Amino acid sequence: MITLRRATADDVDFLVGLVNDDDTRRFLGGRVSDTREAALADLARPPEEFGWFVIEVDGERAGCVAFERLNERNRIASAGRFAVHPSFRKRGIGVEAARAFQRLLLGELGFHRIELQIYGFNERAIAHAERAGYVREGVKRRAYLKDGEWVDAVLFSLLDDELPE
Ligand SMILES: CC(C)(COP(=O)(O)OP(=O)(O)OC[C@H]1O[C@@H](n2cnc3c(N)ncnc32)[C@H](O)[C@@H]1OP(=O)(O)O)[C@@H](O)C(=O)NCCC(=O)NCCS
Repeated sequence: MITLRRATADDVDFLVGLVNDDDTRRFLGGRVSDTREAALADLARPPEEFGWFVIEVDGERAGCVAFERLNERNRIASAGRFAVHPSFRKRGIGVEAARAFQRLLLGELGFHRIELQIYGFNERAIAHAERAGYVREGVKRRAYLKDGEWVDAVLFSLLDDELPE
């Protein structure tokens, strides 16, 4: 059983450990909070503007995902910090968690559009996003400096009327 719940201060060690994991950190953007202080500051942000969620599998912490409100008038959220703990990968947990996240944002929280960007070199996450139903919109060419090199970001989105039944 895969569930999402808002992270609390008790989750900070798990979240900081996960985003700093060797097989996770290099795939996440530059603005991920990777210290306890930064993570705690995030959790104090207004819940309608920002949310950091723990993915649980049968009650055990297995990953995380976050949203940030990009545009209030048009109800656009950007998704980020999506990571499944290495010991839970390759079981389809990512896809189920992404579906739960889509239902939460486009259903419960009332957003109209979720958008996300994936580094062009992150083939695993691009395949995952396609499996999870996100629609590919294009490529932001050589947009981000990553370890001294300009890299592409692939843009995906999902709209509220595209949520599966
Ligand atoms: C991207 C990421 C979240 C995907 O997590 P995941 O749980 O492994 O992803 P998925 O649910 O898509 O499953 C992937 C694999 O499990 C396999 N799988 C096994 N059993 C499955 C099942 N019952 N249902 C679906 N897939 C299953 C899939 O075939 C797939 O294998 P493949 O990669 O060899 O094609 C994870 O790799 C991760 O945390 N990466 C590091 C951080 C990162 O890149 N984040 C994204 C930043 S934009």
